[in-house]
Amino acid sequence: MNKEDTGNSPIVFGRRDFLIAAAGTVAALAMGGCSKTSQASSPHALPPLPYAENALEPVLTAHTIGYHYGKHHRAYVDNLNKLIEGTEYADLPLEKIIAGAAGKMEKAAIFNNAAQVWNHTFYWKSMTPKGGGEPPDALKQKIQASFGSVDACKKELAGAAVSQFGSGWAWLVLDQNTLKVAKTANAEVPFTSGMKPLLTIDVWEHAYYLDYQNRRADYVNAFLDKLINWEFAMQNAG
Ligand SMILES: [Fe+2]
Repeated sequence: MNKEDTGNSPIVFGRRDFLIAAAGTVAALAMGGCSKTSQASSPHALPPLPYAENALEPVLTAHTIGYHYGKHHRAYVDNLNKLIEGTEYADLPLEKIIAGAAGKMEKAAIFNNAAQVWNHTFYWKSMTPKGGGEPPDALKQKIQASFGSVDACKKELAGAAVSQFGSGWAWLVLDQNTLKVAKTANAEVPFTSGMKPLLTIDVWEHAYYLDYQNRRADYVNAFLDKLINWEFAMQNAG
């Protein structure tokens, strides 16, 4: 399942990339589509799902979304609130916590939980019950300019999502004026490296295992064909 070479070359971010100025990070986040759900100061709240738990069926069942949102996402929020209590992060908005903790080994737990709160909020918006199909024209033109075609973009996204070894995320990002595909491990995020996220695919096993077991590629392809929220990506592309 974890094909190491898909013929594509997605950007891969690691810990060494967490050296971006906080100002740049926050600027990228402000354009990243999560400002409405993550602007509040701590303690942080679990943002509402943008649709009912069964709205993505049959691609992702209410069983999967119920656990993923109700257990995993909620746990990241709860953990974050406990971890930051009484610390310098206690009164900071989510984006500043991520920027401040990125790359600091002693703050890894805070970074991981904060980033996972952000990532999941962004992931829910990256899907829509009537997703898939063709991107809006404005986004389609950018995709064609960067990848050649929508199919080529989807193929590269699928390659990144399937080849990410272990837990992580596949992303469509904007780098300057060019769309690119990236992948990150565990909780890591592209915006600490100056990339603007447009949409993401969660490839942690908890995202798909109840419905697809080990067939990550089937989950990814179904996501791309039936759930992907091109409108959300277009909004983030500005
Ligand atoms: Fe997840």
